[in-house]
Amino acid sequence: MMKAWVINEFGIDNLAFEDREKPQAGSGDVVVRLRSASLNYRDFMVVTGTYNPRMKVPAIPVSDGAGEIVEVGSNVAKWKVGDRVMPIFAQHWFDGETSEEKRRTSLGAGSQWDGVLREYAAFHEESLVKIPESLSFEEASTLPCAGVTAWNALSVSGNVKAGETVLTLGTGGVSIFALQLAKLFGARVIATTSSESKMAKLKELGADETINYRVREDWDSAVLEITEKKGVDHVIEVGGGDTLGRSLTSVRLGGHVAMIGALSGPAGFNPISVFMKAVRLQGIFVGSRKMLEDLCKAVEVNRMKPVIDRVFEFDEAREALKYMQSGSHFGKIVLRIS
Ligand SMILES: NC(=O)c1ccc[n+]([C@@H]2O[C@H](COP(=O)([O-])OP(=O)(O)OC[C@H]3O[C@@H](n4cnc5c(N)ncnc54)[C@H](OP(=O)(O)O)[C@@H]3O)[C@@H](O)[C@H]2O)c1
Repeated sequence: MMKAWVINEFGIDNLAFEDREKPQAGSGDVVVRLRSASLNYRDFMVVTGTYNPRMKVPAIPVSDGAGEIVEVGSNVAKWKVGDRVMPIFAQHWFDGETSEEKRRTSLGAGSQWDGVLREYAAFHEESLVKIPESLSFEEASTLPCAGVTAWNALSVSGNVKAGETVLTLGTGGVSIFALQLAKLFGARVIATTSSESKMAKLKELGADETINYRVREDWDSAVLEITEKKGVDHVIEVGGGDTLGRSLTSVRLGGHVAMIGALSGPAGFNPISVFMKAVRLQGIFVGSRKMLEDLCKAVEVNRMKPVIDRVFEFDEAREALKYMQSGSHFGKIVLRIS
């Protein structure tokens, strides 16, 4: 038997710590002993029922994990016992564009593709990526969704170049990865946040300019002042309703807005600036196994360390989700599965 966190009914306090049957490796599968999981805002939405109120339960939440292989099924060529691996976010999305079929294989949002908040899980051998040597299990567990999303936004969709300017919003998991990767690519970063203490942390991580969006509610004007009215080349847009209009003011003519999230709710926005400024507005849906593999290479070569705000123990999943809800974190929230 093993322990797993299970959604039987929505709500953080309803999350149940249950005994489940330990999985076995079928043909082409391996069993992974999960050692760490990291939270994304999506996991908070899944648990509270705001991601998909019709989601089938019982279901095990959380998409991002890392662990070691403890059993190898027949017909497995890629892996051996002891290998350190991460399951990919969408289990059937290996390369190329996404599709409805691939998107449906995303972990942690329904009973068909149970998530990683459990001690053991079986995965198909093709649906895993090797953990970079330079990362711990905790660090690796932050990559499959948040890291890959930032990679997709900047490297794939954005094709960001040294010397360009990137605007990041807030200091959650995706935005902090975007800051780190943008600096790695040689870009200038303007980062917004809600507090003075987080501004100092952003500077330590390499942000060139920071804006407190509570002090400067017209933070788009501040961005234009910093860029001498030109605007930024890329916006990592995670805010949605409250931020998209100002993001469109902040972006330069012909610039790129990576549409990633809706932390403040859905956006009803004025489309005029999109065409008048010939903005490229690109929706981002996490990314493929290839993107995670490419991110891992970049992480390893540059010894880049994911920013972990706090590590909770496995039996503290409810506390970890409530901490995410508070919005006081900077970077990633991780659960150690020992
Ligand atoms: N499309 C995709 O593939 C994809 C993948 C991953 C995430 N997402 C989405 O992207 C968003 C961010 O996800 P995450 O996991 O990084 O979240 P997170 O770690 O929970 O980020 C929360 C942080 O965002 C900042 N924030 C909150 N409201 C804001 C606002 N109105 N304006 C600016 N900043 C705000 C706050 O930082 P400060 O206190 O510093 O302001 C807060 O601490 C979510 O909507 C999530 O669903 C989408």
